[in-house]
Amino acid sequence: MAKEENKGSEQSGSDWKQFIYNPQSGEFMGRTASSWALILLFYLVFYGFLAGLFTLTMWVMLQTLDDSVPKYRDRVSSPGLMISPKSAGLEIKFTRNKTQSYQEYIQTLHTFLTPYNDAIQAKNDLCAPGLYFDQDEKDEKKACQFNRSSLGLCSGIEDNTFGYNEGKPCVIVKMNRIIGLKPEGNPKINCTSKTEDVNLQYFPENGKIDLMYFPYYGKKTHVNYVQPLVAVKIIPPPYNSSLDEISLECKIHGSRNLKNEDERDKFLGRVTFKVKIWV
Ligand SMILES: *[C@@H]1O[C@H](CO)[C@@H](O)[C@H](O)[C@H]1NC(C)=O
Ligand SMILES: *[C@@H]1O[C@H](CO)[C@@H](O)[C@H](O)[C@H]1NC(C)=O
Ligand SMILES: *[C@@H]1O[C@H](CO)[C@@H](O)[C@H](O)[C@H]1NC(C)=O
Ligand SMILES: *[C@@H]1O[C@H](CO)[C@@H](O)[C@H](O)[C@H]1NC(C)=O
Repeated sequence: MAKEENKGSEQSGSDWKQFIYNPQSGEFMGRTASSWALILLFYLVFYGFLAGLFTLTMWVMLQTLDDSVPKYRDRVSSPGLMISPKSAGLEIKFTRNKTQSYQEYIQTLHTFLTPYNDAIQAKNDLCAPGLYFDQDEKDEKKACQFNRSSLGLCSGIEDNTFGYNEGKPCVIVKMNRIIGLKPEGNPKINCTSKTEDVNLQYFPENGKIDLMYFPYYGKKTHVNYVQPLVAVKIIPPPYNSSLDEISLECKIHGSRNLKNEDERDKFLGRVTFKVKIWV
């Protein structure tokens, strides 16, 4: 092609026409129809081969992935725990009676709990307690009601500071969503404190996590799903010093398939956090 262009400019017009279609030889763009067909065939085969190779590779890789699913499933299907408000280092620090010191925490809690407002939850289903809420494959999935009011003193409804103003803060413990997870037994959240005389109140009662909120079908089909929550109200012992640090660990109990003692993952089925309250 470069050679053609190097010829005189006055000739190049007809040369180009010749190049595009040469009536004598029947060449189109310098090639005969059969030559073009061959080239086309070559590329067709070539790219077909590449596509085939790609598909094969993909397929082989997916096969191996499939094989490893059961291996990892055990770990994946055991959820982690997290708290709200989630602060840096999982340390909740504030001064009683000092609104600014806990404003951010209660704001976080209010925002976090908004989807649980009874008025919003009214659109969801009243499910049978204690039973899994299994649903058909195809449909858009329904969600079970979890009323904000069931968190009682920690709902932020009657006491909109969640107890922070009186130094008895609420912390919400939530379990990560795991698609398809069905906890066995009677899962519940139990928290312990190394500090003596710390009183803990659970909402709902006993820190129970009802089975009706499982399984979860995923973001796409289970649009209105809200995960069950457990709120813990921390009532510290009477103050002796001006600074009380309370270290707490919350764990999932009562379910065989929810792990809570993995050495490598300290959030698997448990969460540790600190609460510091200045008077
Ligand atoms: C904090 O507020 C409570 C009432 O909510 C009040 O009884 C108490 O005296 C206050 N404490 C301080 C240090 O202001
Ligand atoms: C949620 O609250 C509504 C009304 O406030 C009530 O009718 C419903 O039974 C409650 N649902 C649950 C699961 O407690
Ligand atoms: C919850 O923790 C308390 C305090 O450690 C303990 O006495 C109780 O047995 C625990 N409950 C369960 C179900 O493990
Ligand atoms: C407060 O301190 C006193 C003495 O310093 C001690 O006797 C008492 O047990 C402490 N109270 C609590 C609740 O720790």
